[in-house]
Amino acid sequence: MEKGRASVYRLTMTQTLTLRRPDDMHLHLRDGAMLNAVLPESARHFARAIVMPNLVPPVVTARDAAAYRDRILAALPQGMRFEPLMTLYLTEATDPEDVAAAHASGLVKAVKLYPAGATTNSQSGVKDFQNVRHVLDRMAEIGLPLCVHGEVTDPAVDIFDREAVFIDRVLDPIRRATPGLRVVMEHITTEEGAAYAGAGDDTLAATITTHHLVINRNHILAGGIRPHYYCLPVAKREKHRLALRRAATSGAARFFLGTDSAPHPDHLKEHACGCAGCFTATNTLSILAHVFEEEGALDRLEPFTSLNGAAFYGLPPNPGRITLEKGAPAAYPAKIDTGAGPVTLFDPGFPLAWKVL
Ligand code: DOR
Ligand code: ZN
Repeated sequence: MEKGRASVYRLTMTQTLTLRRPDDMHLHLRDGAMLNAVLPESARHFARAIVMPNLVPPVVTARDAAAYRDRILAALPQGMRFEPLMTLYLTEATDPEDVAAAHASGLVKAVKLYPAGATTNSQSGVKDFQNVRHVLDRMAEIGLPLCVHGEVTDPAVDIFDREAVFIDRVLDPIRRATPGLRVVMEHITTEEGAAYAGAGDDTLAATITTHHLVINRNHILAGGIRPHYYCLPVAKREKHRLALRRAATSGAARFFLGTDSAPHPDHLKEHACGCAGCFTATNTLSILAHVFEEEGALDRLEPFTSLNGAAFYGLPPNPGRITLEKGAPAAYPAKIDTGAGPVTLFDPGFPLAWKVL
């Protein structure tokens, strides 16, 4: 009798889950027709997002960031609230005083480092790190975080090793040469990445995507090539996915959600040279609840989605709440329509029992 009652109690306790309204600390919103279509998919659940600057042309100056912010806010449907946290795209011509002014005015929350050629629209990124030293020094002085796409572009390095090699060859030397520089290792995909972030001091953090908690490289390549699972950094072997799950569900303050939701129209994904990016904005919270429940860590979902990232960026947690409910499988569309063509939603490969109410 007692036993029965206790289990009913536990069951009802796990049917709903209320969290502080989450933040997405790494998001691609694009521009124009694509922006109009994908922005509501994030704003529906997320209060704020660190918005990536890899447009064509990129968001390089404070002036570019202010104009992009205005376009994002203009694209927000009536009645939705969302705060874009703007970033600047670091180039070898970036002016440290423009960066400092953008930070001082509150417009910009981070600067993004793309090694030239590492990923989508990274052509204007950094080739020689000596040429951005003075910008990094200024950022360390003012406490402005550097968000790092952590992959070397050396063609001699195997694509599955590019993150681990970047840590040794580039990231660790930059951090040693720039004491106090606050760094976010974006979308880590390896146990080396998780270990390096986990061992750092409080100037270091790492974002983890939803899809890297779900897929390994077999999902992309075994039994046929699946372009909608291709992103950069590319998913690695299973032991790395498990290391990411341990890091995300550890509750450690240095790990937080950055979805890297990166929409591309289907015709550019299903292509002889398909674009990198998984579009996860719509179903991310359902997937994360599933993953955290599988790991016995539902109580650590809120720090990951809603507390740790805000704390690293010096922001208050959002005042609002969202509630997820566990029940019949949530119905998500396979694709969303955009003025730039259909965009396929990331398919986790399992039914999603949790949905945001
Ligand atoms: O998969 C990715 N897509 N990785 C990135 O670093 C960029 C992103 C994009 O912009 O499409
Ligand atoms: Zn990204």
